[in-house]
Amino acid sequence: MCGIVGCILKENNDVAPILFYCILKLEYRGYDSIGLATYDNKIHVKKDQGNIETVNNRIHFKEMKGSCGIAHTRWASTGIPNYENAHPHLDDTNSIAVVHNGTLENYLDLKDELIKLGHTFKSTTDTEVIPHLIKIFMNEGLDLENAVKKCCQKLKGSYAIVAMSKDEPDKLIATRKDSPLIIAQNKDGYFVSSDIPAVLDYSRDIYRPKEGEFVIMTKESIEIHDENGEKIDPEYIYIDWSPKMAKKDGYDYFMIKEIHEQSLAVKNTLTQKTNIKKIIDEIGDIKRICFVACGTSYHASITGKYLIESQKGIPCDVIIASEYKYTAKTWDEDTLVIFISQSGETYDSRMALKEARKTSKTLAIVNVAGSAMTQEAEYFIQTQAGPEIGVAATKTYIAQLTAIYLFAGLLAENDELIEKLNKVPEYIEEIVKQEKLIEDISKRYDFADNAFYLGRGFSYPIALEGALKLKEISYIHAEGYAAGELKHGPLALINEKVPVIVIIPPGDDYDKTMVNLQEVKAREAIILSIGAKGDEKLRENSRIVVEINPEVTDIIAPLVYTVPLQLLSYYVTVEKGYNPDQPRNLAKVITV
Ligand code: F6R
Repeated sequence: MCGIVGCILKENNDVAPILFYCILKLEYRGYDSIGLATYDNKIHVKKDQGNIETVNNRIHFKEMKGSCGIAHTRWASTGIPNYENAHPHLDDTNSIAVVHNGTLENYLDLKDELIKLGHTFKSTTDTEVIPHLIKIFMNEGLDLENAVKKCCQKLKGSYAIVAMSKDEPDKLIATRKDSPLIIAQNKDGYFVSSDIPAVLDYSRDIYRPKEGEFVIMTKESIEIHDENGEKIDPEYIYIDWSPKMAKKDGYDYFMIKEIHEQSLAVKNTLTQKTNIKKIIDEIGDIKRICFVACGTSYHASITGKYLIESQKGIPCDVIIASEYKYTAKTWDEDTLVIFISQSGETYDSRMALKEARKTSKTLAIVNVAGSAMTQEAEYFIQTQAGPEIGVAATKTYIAQLTAIYLFAGLLAENDELIEKLNKVPEYIEEIVKQEKLIEDISKRYDFADNAFYLGRGFSYPIALEGALKLKEISYIHAEGYAAGELKHGPLALINEKVPVIVIIPPGDDYDKTMVNLQEVKAREAIILSIGAKGDEKLRENSRIVVEINPEVTDIIAPLVYTVPLQLLSYYVTVEKGYNPDQPRNLAKVITV
């Protein structure tokens, strides 16, 4: 995964500080290498392996001159992170520079052909074939726009690219296929980028080029051309996110800021009630629902299944997006396929969405306005979490759940459930007030190598999400289990060194979960329970209890009980000295 940026200033010659600022805002997309290219009589490139700030302190990007340039932040997919593999990549003659986000499936064949033609390669990336191909086509007499177009015809796989040429100074050409790209402009210049946070400080009107469209940027204009070179009129959308929302705003990390923003994310998402009701009415009769998602969004989907099946009785399946093909043949016109994705760009989910559109009704629940899935699904609901920069999903997850609860409650005409949602922001705020307590608890967990999370019914997806949050940022191995499954294998791993986090809200499953808690207690596990305030039985049987408002019963627990688990993961991670915003090997948006 990577972030790309391109910028041309109308008058000013100092594009490098702007490019640097924009690419810094995309650091969540990748942070193992960074590079910039600017045009100032020739193409200048500075790049290296390392995170953006560290590399900048060494090679001072902001000193680069020129009014036109491109930038890249890398999360290695093809080729290890090193200097040679960092973008921008150049052709043999240093006359074309390219930044790329995506994965080319046929690059080895293209590279072989180019080597036979005498081209030499410096990197082991897939991207490097692109500047070589563009150069060949420009040598044949094509201009940059048409050379990029012809090059794209040879590429298989996914890409968003921005290209510049020394032979057409102060011009950038950008295009995309299966990878995100947006454009924006203000009185000073023109921008192209992988995502909104890069440009929020410059403009809040953005356009997302469609596949097959080409962006032509010069000092005078930014134009969108279709495949035939015809100019088209882009419809810009206004992004309701303030630049402040994409900044740390005094917090140490984005993740903790985003955890604090969750009650607001719920409040704002609840405003979608009328939209959701309209969508339900338009969708009409459905006999089956199939949720498709990855990672944290998959956990939100499991809650969706439990809610809809228990409240409305419509059978639901939950499919990991990368595994969709085994189920796709069962989708028909009576199936509603619901895609859950904070980014709206996840490759596996998008491929499943393409397939679902052939047979079924499709609904996407996404956080990013104008993202690919909002354009590709028949219906979409936009969660109102605002920009999420920390790699680990927190507020977007709680916002997804809010939208799912509204959807399920409206579908089942369960006013009582919808009414309960109004108090969720208050419950979340009560937990955030216990932050110090959870920080203290986290200190007792930083020694652990393994942890288990147990929950039944609505608490099962909470356990899965709690475990994912811990493992992805603190690198402690953690597993979430349906509490009743414990005795079918994992109990063998429980001993006095293993923390077991038991999610046990008041409700129908309480007694059975308590039995499971006793099972791990008998093996002397270190039990941390998340349960209702005043639950004396729980206190007696647990080492530590995080207490939640007793009004929060099992059915709405996912919206509330997840919060202390996010805080626990955050503080364990900080205590261990890791950066929770940038877990190793992970990036925020997975477009490959
Ligand atoms: C974990 C996390 C990931 C994402 C997954 C899907 O904290 O953020 O597991 O949930 O990569 O991403 P989206 O929701 O953008 O489709």
